[in-house]
Amino acid sequence: MTLSATSEPAPAAAHAGAGKLPRVTPIDAPLGCVVDQIDLSQMPSAEAAGVIREAFLEHRLIVFPQQKLHEAALVQVSHLFGEPVVHHVGEYLDADFPQIMRLSNNTVDGKPLGAPNNGIYWHSDQIFREQPMLATLLYGVETPARTGGDTLFSDMYAAFEALSEEMQARLLPLKAVHSFVASYERNYIRARKLSAQEKADNPDVTHPVVRTHPETGRKSLFVDPDSVTRILGVSDEESAELLTFLFAHIEDARFVYRHAWQQGDLAVWDNRCLMHCATSYDDSSEIRLMFRTQTQGDRPF
Ligand code: OGA
Ligand code: MN
Repeated sequence: MTLSATSEPAPAAAHAGAGKLPRVTPIDAPLGCVVDQIDLSQMPSAEAAGVIREAFLEHRLIVFPQQKLHEAALVQVSHLFGEPVVHHVGEYLDADFPQIMRLSNNTVDGKPLGAPNNGIYWHSDQIFREQPMLATLLYGVETPARTGGDTLFSDMYAAFEALSEEMQARLLPLKAVHSFVASYERNYIRARKLSAQEKADNPDVTHPVVRTHPETGRKSLFVDPDSVTRILGVSDEESAELLTFLFAHIEDARFVYRHAWQQGDLAVWDNRCLMHCATSYDDSSEIRLMFRTQTQGDRPF
């Protein structure tokens, strides 16, 4: 499934500003761009959607600043990046728009308004699925003013390309085991426990350690410390040694952009060639509320 194949834009609305295209400005970092001069509460024209898709493939992370998105608009905009997938952790889904999961430290009547601590390890979204996510959209409804809650992104094309030829050749034939259960137990410590049946329904999967992007053809590193349990076909020692090396490598500052959120930012990233990681903030004095959607990807090869 590719972006172009899955997400034909809806016909342009008459008020979408015919002829005016969004502006794409690369961020001064290894990855990412800002796309502005577009109001995503209206469905973009076919031309504008084309500009957005091209920017997505080239820059891998788009930040759309100063958006005012209702839930319905966020779901609609998600379709530009593939087919939305309802998150498997049911507790934090929006009642009317289950494609939206909320992330928050806030509570209402003692009940969490969202997942309180999602993604504090380097990861690619739902890498533990046979078909991991293509894109994730994260919309800053309320963002910490003073103490962080930034999101880190690391460029896995660059991380692969920076390896020695010898290391690249060593990694190319390898596959790694990814565990849904390990990732769940790391991330959802305050959600309910998995049942034996759910564990059985979500067996480990294997993916290539180096994947090829289905649209750009570029190679990227595809192991994360959140879900990988081992590399197959090598000794336990070699697996552990390679993973220790790779986990340090993927977070090397040479490949990383740190996004400091402003309220109204919509960030969209390509999980096929980026890793990301949430950072902490003072959750006793600040509120963070994010709306999140994700779209279906292919089986990595
Ligand atoms: C996610 C995620 C990071 C953040 O929602 O998939 O990793 O900073 N979020 O909230
Ligand atoms: Mn994530």
